[in-house]
Amino acid sequence: MKVSVDKNACIGCGACAAICPEYFEMGNDTKADVKKGKEKVAKADEKKVKEAVDGCPVNAIKVQ
Ligand code: F3S
Repeated sequence: MKVSVDKNACIGCGACAAICPEYFEMGNDTKADVKKGKEKVAKADEKKVKEAVDGCPVNAIKVQ
């Protein structure tokens, strides 16, 4: 599974970084970034990343 943040959709609410700080951090632009090297989600972390996906109010986190 791969994860990315749609910066155009992100409103900077910070939920993803709160729910799953291992994968998401807030950038200087006040929007979320996937942490460097974390674009590919480890199998064991998929549940946590999906929680962040579900927690985003504007569905800005994409997984594939
Ligand atoms: Fe942005 Fe959604 Fe995270 S609005 S800060 S991607 S929870």
